[in-house]
Amino acid sequence: MAIVGLDTAVFTAPDMKKAKAFLADWGLKKVRDGKKGAVFATRIGSEIVLRPDDYPALPPAAQEGMHFREMIWGVSSRKHLAAIRKELERDREVTVDADGTIHCLDPNNIGVGFRLWQREKRVKATPERFNHAGHYRRIDARAKLYERAQPLRMGHIGFIVPNLEAAEKFYHKRLGFPISDKYAGGAATFMRNAEREDHHNLFLIWSRDGNTRFHHIAFEVNDIHEVFGGGLYVTRKQGWQTEVGPGRHPVSSAYFWYVKTPVGGAFEYFSDSDFVTGNWKPVSFRENRFSEWHLVDGIPAPEEGYRDRPSLSNAGKA
Ligand SMILES: [Fe+2]
Repeated sequence: MAIVGLDTAVFTAPDMKKAKAFLADWGLKKVRDGKKGAVFATRIGSEIVLRPDDYPALPPAAQEGMHFREMIWGVSSRKHLAAIRKELERDREVTVDADGTIHCLDPNNIGVGFRLWQREKRVKATPERFNHAGHYRRIDARAKLYERAQPLRMGHIGFIVPNLEAAEKFYHKRLGFPISDKYAGGAATFMRNAEREDHHNLFLIWSRDGNTRFHHIAFEVNDIHEVFGGGLYVTRKQGWQTEVGPGRHPVSSAYFWYVKTPVGGAFEYFSDSDFVTGNWKPVSFRENRFSEWHLVDGIPAPEEGYRDRPSLSNAGKA
């Protein structure tokens, strides 16, 4: 089906001003703003769309009170888009916009759409030079310190759903998302939108209480330094609350930092995820492997006393 990646995520905003402030602090670029809502973009141009609550022609919320409304996946060609439409029309209502974007609801009533991919696939950033033992690549130079993050793209999206089995059938069997890993007993499934991809682009967790919830969207940043720089900026300087992080996922190997959003769920900065191909062998994990390590409440500011000490940058000057 040739799905390229996450193109757009649509939310309603109960407090538009607050939601816009969050997206700007997150490091996204405002590309449109008006009565119909606001649009913020990652560096490849994929978008977070905010709509007012009463905006017409929005997919319904999958659950009362949920602000997440739709994820739109980019598809490589009109031929593939037509094939997806044909597949979806077998058993559900599909609407089509003038530009060819198709919309429907998935088995858990989550809005899902597909459109022709017109973004860059990846931003080729200049890689940071990391020094490994015996392999020194950064010589006579300090590593980069990020004041804040500028997310490159949306890497993955996660939901908590009551009917994980039906969702897996829909995305894996019908839309061709390969399964990367699972939690045993139908607890959660990690899927990717193509064979050669990040470890996961879609993460679905079984809902114990029967409610559907938006869990998070993860934004890729350059490297671990930008995960820290972004997380510190939004939490310490802008006062948004850490959901969990920083930390490291053992399942995808990625570094992470999740921050609570004013439209529900969390946004995650991530870096250094496993990138897999058809040779990847899925594992069914018997125990929760959310993190190898993580901080629960973010990183507190250094104590004043610590700040006032002669700093390392002054060392040698005394
Ligand atoms: Fe994630």
